[in-house]
Amino acid sequence: MEQHAGDALWRTDVKDLQQHLESKLAAGETIQQQTAVHFRQAAEKIADRAEQANRQNSVRWGQHRLPPLPYGFDALEPYISKEIMELHYTKHHQSYVDGLNKAEEMLYVNRDNKSSSDYKHYLREQSFHGSGHFLHTIFWYNMSPNGGGEPSGQLAQQIRKDFGSFRRFKEMFTKAADSVEGVGWTILVWEPRSHHLAIQTLEKHQFFGLLDTIPLLVLDMWEHAYYLQYKTNKKQYAENWWKIVNWANAAQRFETAKQVKWAPF
Ligand SMILES: [Fe+2]
Repeated sequence: MEQHAGDALWRTDVKDLQQHLESKLAAGETIQQQTAVHFRQAAEKIADRAEQANRQNSVRWGQHRLPPLPYGFDALEPYISKEIMELHYTKHHQSYVDGLNKAEEMLYVNRDNKSSSDYKHYLREQSFHGSGHFLHTIFWYNMSPNGGGEPSGQLAQQIRKDFGSFRRFKEMFTKAADSVEGVGWTILVWEPRSHHLAIQTLEKHQFFGLLDTIPLLVLDMWEHAYYLQYKTNKKQYAENWWKIVNWANAAQRFETAKQVKWAPF
């Protein structure tokens, strides 16, 4: 797991405190008033640092932001053009981040004087923009200029177990992508309840979802993802996309998703 700066700092504080205590004991000293004050101050500092580290591992209401793009706008060419990537990331994804932040502020920060129709509106906004933000965040890391090929390890085994073969899975997923009308997604999900993989398409970002599942691999089938380059040939876009799939990232998501274990029903 990635270690955050605040997390590393409080661990250093704890180590300093331990060393200070050990040196006092080694010198045969008893804990005096001055040392007790030192310990109390150090403990407060550690608590502050730990709180800071905790904040860095979560997002406060209305504080979402774009994740860093792990490659340049032109890195996925010729399969996805620089122009598409730049607009997609800086305009479309940013608008979902902004929309989610606005919805959260209205729902959770500014809590006064809202009618049930206000709730209806902002809950729908949360669903649309929040799903848009989270799905795009998966999407960028699901791709790589060094991608393509086939998965290996546990994910490859699971795909063979659930779909018969990688070829058959790829064919099903591509056909599902081609079936999306206008705006939507195709996703490979892990079902922690039944312990198998499944394919699902979404309309917009949030309709027809299969809930209580974890997305492993997502393909943006909104027209904004391909139209400037592929025009109406979305099947060609879906077929080319396999050449930039980051299987290492999907495998890592699978490894993490498998740690969620619900009773099978
Ligand atoms: Fe998109």
